[in-house]
Amino acid sequence: MYNINGDKMKERILNILKENNNQLISGSSIAKKLNVTRSYVNKIIISLKEDGYNIEQYNRSGYIYKDCIKVIDEKEICDNINKKKDILFFEKINSTNTYLKEIAKDKTINNKLVIANFQSNGRGRLGRTFISEKTCGIYMSLLLRPDISLNNITKVTCLTAVAIKNAILELTNLNPLIKWVNDIYINNKKVSGILVESSIENNQLDYLIIGIGINVYKREFDESIKNIATSIEDEGNMIISRNELIAKIINNIDTYLDNFYNNIFMEDYRNSSCVIGKKVELNMHGKYIDVVVKDINLDGELIVDTKDEINKVIYSGEITRMVINDK
Ligand code: BTN
Repeated sequence: MYNINGDKMKERILNILKENNNQLISGSSIAKKLNVTRSYVNKIIISLKEDGYNIEQYNRSGYIYKDCIKVIDEKEICDNINKKKDILFFEKINSTNTYLKEIAKDKTINNKLVIANFQSNGRGRLGRTFISEKTCGIYMSLLLRPDISLNNITKVTCLTAVAIKNAILELTNLNPLIKWVNDIYINNKKVSGILVESSIENNQLDYLIIGIGINVYKREFDESIKNIATSIEDEGNMIISRNELIAKIINNIDTYLDNFYNNIFMEDYRNSSCVIGKKVELNMHGKYIDVVVKDINLDGELIVDTKDEINKVIYSGEITRMVINDK
């Protein structure tokens, strides 16, 4: 949105605010120092606040810089990731998954993490939209070329769900659970979704893109998802750092991928399921059936009882309704 001068001005105003040691500073004194108008200063400060800087604004007297906990800081993320990655940050992008898909044609690209502060066309499973409001969440995708067989791809979604669940557990006092196959729930509402996309060549996996969306801070949810979506801030009444959460998730993914065949993350996945033992409605490619979930096997498949079949194995589909407390 800003040209180079605008970005430079952002940096200079931020420095002046920070140097003022959490004390009030007037818009006119900032404007005087930089030889610009007060309204220009105000415009830049609004934009800094949109980026996540916590700056208090007092209409008549000025501004106080508080903190930057909501700001995505590439260096902080990079410093806390154990296995180095090529990280790219976008203030705005259509979709981090789509971006990686486009560049994945170049087979030398691997281990690349793309993070955005806003997505104009965030994509969810089954062709849905993932609304990715500015400075409210984590929108990131990881491109990998792991040496795994095609029938193990579903397990990568499971592994990612466990990585997110455990990272949230480490940073909050919340109890995130996993709704088969790719959603993280807190207090019966969705807080995060995963979109794993793959490319197969000559019957072998060429690449995987692991897309992760997490609602981290409070925001107005669209009418259509208001009753089923939530954020970490809403549920935990706390503001956590997206940088810390991102680094923890990536470190967890790397650890589980390194130990892919020992199935420890699959046991964790099953133990963290909020659907085992529940009556649910399944959408199986457009056909809706009521089932009771008995288990999830080590391949990430759902074992269910239907009205005519015991222990039916469900390879893919979506749980569209959960019956909570048998009501
Ligand atoms: C779902 O809930 O159906 C999956 C949502 C996945 C959203 C993430 S946000 C980052 C990445 N880029 C996208 O366009 N989608 C994924």
